[in-house]
Amino acid sequence: MDTETFEIRKGLAGVVVDYTAISKVNPDTNSLLYRGYPVQELAAKCNFEEVAYLLWHGELPTQKELEQFRAAERAGRTLNPSLKAVIDALPTTAHPMDVCRTAASVLGARHPLAEDSSPEANLTKAKDLFAAFPAVVAYDQRRRRGQAAVEPRDDLGYSANFLWMAFGEEPADEVVAAFDVSMTLYAEHSFNASTFTARVVTSTLSDLHSAVTAAIGALKGPLHGGANEAVMHTFDEIGIRSEESLEEAATRARAWMEDALAHKKKVMGFGHRVYKHGDSRVPTMKAALDKMIAHYGRPELLGLYNGLEQAMDEAKAIKPNLDYPAGPTYHLMGFDTQTFTPLFVASRITGWTAHIMEQVASNSLIRPLSEYNGPEQRSI
Ligand code: COA
Repeated sequence: MDTETFEIRKGLAGVVVDYTAISKVNPDTNSLLYRGYPVQELAAKCNFEEVAYLLWHGELPTQKELEQFRAAERAGRTLNPSLKAVIDALPTTAHPMDVCRTAASVLGARHPLAEDSSPEANLTKAKDLFAAFPAVVAYDQRRRRGQAAVEPRDDLGYSANFLWMAFGEEPADEVVAAFDVSMTLYAEHSFNASTFTARVVTSTLSDLHSAVTAAIGALKGPLHGGANEAVMHTFDEIGIRSEESLEEAATRARAWMEDALAHKKKVMGFGHRVYKHGDSRVPTMKAALDKMIAHYGRPELLGLYNGLEQAMDEAKAIKPNLDYPAGPTYHLMGFDTQTFTPLFVASRITGWTAHIMEQVASNSLIRPLSEYNGPEQRSI
């Protein structure tokens, strides 16, 4: 290829590869719309079931549609015994994201519509995954703690039931609300790495579960979803001291950040490929974190949060992304750090599957080109 005629955009940065009607990320205005609705408004006025429905159907559900959807979701919450047996066969040394990846694959292999990629079958599969995944995540965390599984409860909404299955205690309303907000904020974000992965797999006319399984693999990495887990490792490295005041914690966090940046470290939970002036989702998630800090009485965590954020802002003007407030929020709720990215999976299943359906509806095999820079042709 003539060097004049192409330009390599590493990481596809700035490359527009297709249209989407699912979400709009606008870095200039720091805004994010799901099907036209600002995500902040959805987080404030709708629960996660409504948001999931919106992503798939393009419109918020009527009361009747919501009731039907909720009934189906509640009917699909129980962990299938054969999937439970597969999870039990995995070592607890395996990362919970490996368990999620395996679970998505098993759910695909077992699905009665496995080889049917019609719009109706894909919608059914998406809703089935959505209903089944909280039990996978909750069960895996419990087995790692040596705790017995907790059966789902039909009288609780998606988020309350998720927390119930994870901890075996009825969660406080404020905690359910904060968790629900996190699910809404994590649900969809246009052509991020895992969603693009799902679309690439779908573009070969492979099935929905294969695409979701691949997307889970992409989300695992610390440059993507794994960042929420990595944020907590940073907090742990600095040291969480419950007896400490907000100011003391902030001072130690600032010193840690200054040292990390002096050593040219990349600090997870900061920066974004698209947003350069702040992540549109952070203020809403930070408000939820603030409520959890007040609920659990843990001001020292806010000190660590503020100290890192301020030091990063002063040194490099790089802003936090959604994973930064989400990590400590999940920690306060009692989730194990390794479970944070699986929580992201449970939410993002909605966005991934909406994109898979959009890709099927207007498919073209995704197959870019590369420029060869190996040895010239030679003989053995
Ligand atoms: N910590 C420290 N420096 C960072 C940084 C971070 N989290 N994010 C970006 N930078 C710096 C880079 O070192 C680079 O500096 P340089 O020009 O002096 O070399 C500059 O900002 C550009 O970074 P780059 O990685 O090229 O930008 P990108 O658009 O490719 O990266 C991310 C976007 C998300 C991959 C990047 O910000 C990152 O790795 N963040 C941490 C992981 C994370 O939180 N991921 C979740 C995203 S939602």
